[in-house]
Amino acid sequence: MTQGDLVLGIETSCDDTSVALVRRDGQVIACETVSQFEIHSEFGGVFPEFASRAHLHAILPTIAKVMSAVNSDPARIRAIGVTRGPGLIGSLIVGVNTAQALGIAWDKPVYGVNHLRGHLRSPDLDEPRIIYPALLLLVSGGHTLLCHLQSAVDVTVLGTTRDDSVGETYDKVARMLGLGMPGGPALDRLALAGQAVHRFPRPMIREGYEFSFSGLKSSVARLLEKDPGADRADIAASFVAACLDVLGAKIRRALAEHDATSLIVVGGVAASRQIRDLVADICTEHGLTPCLPPLSWATDNAAMIALATWDYLEHDAPQDLRTTPSLSLSAW
Ligand code: KG4
Ligand code: ZN
Repeated sequence: MTQGDLVLGIETSCDDTSVALVRRDGQVIACETVSQFEIHSEFGGVFPEFASRAHLHAILPTIAKVMSAVNSDPARIRAIGVTRGPGLIGSLIVGVNTAQALGIAWDKPVYGVNHLRGHLRSPDLDEPRIIYPALLLLVSGGHTLLCHLQSAVDVTVLGTTRDDSVGETYDKVARMLGLGMPGGPALDRLALAGQAVHRFPRPMIREGYEFSFSGLKSSVARLLEKDPGADRADIAASFVAACLDVLGAKIRRALAEHDATSLIVVGGVAASRQIRDLVADICTEHGLTPCLPPLSWATDNAAMIALATWDYLEHDAPQDLRTTPSLSLSAW
């Protein structure tokens, strides 16, 4: 078997078909992502059946396009890494089956990669940015996760959400305010124009590291029921203030109880100006290095899956290709 210098990463866990070639040092040789945004926008959320069909349609042309960056030469490929979970089962199966077929055709090892481990490695794409030990907050449409990283593979999950993720909550509240889809960015902008005059609950703010956001979302709905004419920007500002208080309290608690040199924030919600400001403030307070990777790597992409695959190779991880929709971070 050849000893190529690149890992081919494949990511199809949700609504993006993404393929990338990445070197051990995090250099991204090629990355192509086909978004399904237009397909799902009329449903107000991801429609799983359409997602897997769209992956099936996009995956081979996307692989061909990425491989053209190395003259379509499989000798450059050391291994293939594909997301095996968490995610939508039909979408995961498309990626895993394709990776398996390529592995047989090219005689390469194929690793089923934990999508969450991909997110943890994403800040080291292009250039190494993580200084260990680190605290990491993942805030995306699909996940809310606070973790302590002693090293790239020594990960302790401190807390996750019991119900909705932060991004999902932003999107649902945005919909209540008539802001379209995905509403997170619009809600974030609207909040800047309002005053936090409503006192929404700060769910679980005093308890450990777990999160819960559905009660906060319901409080916004109740306010709108009672007072349909309430100023939308004020509601947005009050909602964002509650989210920031909860996130800030959990991060500060984690920093009081764990050693950290850097604070990493990844996931689509990390695009929020207000979240970025919160992270900057906390870093100043604690003398930490803020680590906010470029947004292209903070949202779902195959480059992070490829980089994580190098860890699998080096740690002799199992080549486990079982698709697992609710895979936990503690699993390979
Ligand atoms: O990581 P991501 O791109 O994808 C998935 O999780 O699938 O995260 C998407 C989430 C959405 O909920 C979106 O509304 C939210 O990130 N988001 C934002 C902003 N930009 C994207 N939320 C708040 N402020 C933003 N500027
Ligand atoms: Zn993700």
